[in-house]
Amino acid sequence: MMQPILSLQDVSVTFDVRRSGSWPWTPPMKLQAVSKVSFDLAPGECVGVVGESGSGKSTLARAVIGTVPSSGGKVLFEGKDLASMDALTRRRHRRDVQMIFQDPLAALNPRMTVGEIIAEPLITHEPKTPRSEVRHRVQELMERVGLLPNLINRYPHEFSGGQCQRIGIARALIVKPKLLICDEPVSALDVSVQAQVVNLLWELQRDMGLSMIFIAHDLSVVKHISDRIVVMYLGRLMETASSEVLMTRPSHPYTQALIASVPIPDPRKEKARKRPILEGELPSPLAPPSGCVFRTRCPKAQAACAGDRPPMLEVGKGHAVACPFAEAEDVLAVAG
Ligand SMILES: Nc1ncnc2c1ncn2[C@@H]1O[C@H](COP(=O)(O)OP(=O)(O)O)[C@@H](O)[C@H]1O
Ligand code: SF4
Ligand SMILES: [Mg+2]
Repeated sequence: MMQPILSLQDVSVTFDVRRSGSWPWTPPMKLQAVSKVSFDLAPGECVGVVGESGSGKSTLARAVIGTVPSSGGKVLFEGKDLASMDALTRRRHRRDVQMIFQDPLAALNPRMTVGEIIAEPLITHEPKTPRSEVRHRVQELMERVGLLPNLINRYPHEFSGGQCQRIGIARALIVKPKLLICDEPVSALDVSVQAQVVNLLWELQRDMGLSMIFIAHDLSVVKHISDRIVVMYLGRLMETASSEVLMTRPSHPYTQALIASVPIPDPRKEKARKRPILEGELPSPLAPPSGCVFRTRCPKAQAACAGDRPPMLEVGKGHAVACPFAEAEDVLAVAG
């Protein structure tokens, strides 16, 4: 494999949290939002990151863009350690890695016009760009993401959720980033426009040769756009495989449960399907279960699962699973 554009090596992120009403001198509790996560991203590759809400996906994204410090491990961007970048490299990293957020309207400044919003990162990173060139690039991008360029002087509240997300996409792309991180970019949108926005991102990723991390809580959103999928649970990696292998032969009990919760459009097949139900709630991240963090909800859990944390075991080419008792399961019918 060529040098990865991004390499995560045992990345951990811990937050200090105080219970409300606790005395100021009592030490804060440690919340491990991300725990020893490792994976690489090749240039031009799209990796999907999935897991229920609270599994550490957004925190991982923030560790990659550098807005939250990792408490352990390393984030390497183009081989350079984020923690020890010099000022110039850090500025370049801030331009090269752009992000798209879940709530499109909240991410846009309501007092700025669409043109100003899209142009802002360009003006920040390349202040010498002539105004006419800025305007040209803004209009070109608006067209590219499916917005009418003559709407350049409108304000965000005049647009629908899907259009606001297109504005966010144009804003992220105007500085020609190398890596685009999409944090649940369609979760807040109407189901009818979700596919349009995912397709747009897929086209842009392919046409511009972008590397991409696409975060979602739902496998059905990431499976088409991702080359590879990473499954997280309570801050830990559970399984990673190519999109095809993960969707057709998942090995980890958690992945199997996630896939079983994706509805099949054909009602007969849907009815005939045996469905391992994911029981119980996500445990508190302040007191995660010992050993395998999934064991309190795992249908295959046994005494040994409470012991040591299961390491990621290679079960095939590019396919690793954090469960010593994993067995691949053939999934015949997955939603289209
Ligand atoms: N700034 C913060 N301070 C304390 N805890 C946080 C902070 N940000 C996230 N968390 C906690 O970290 C865990 C992972 O959160 P998050 O990364 O947002 O998960 P996801 O994006 O998968 O829903 C959650 O338990 C969340 O409450
Ligand atoms: S290690 Fe045990 S609890 Fe964890 S997924 Fe495997 S069987 Fe289930
Ligand atoms: Mg999130």
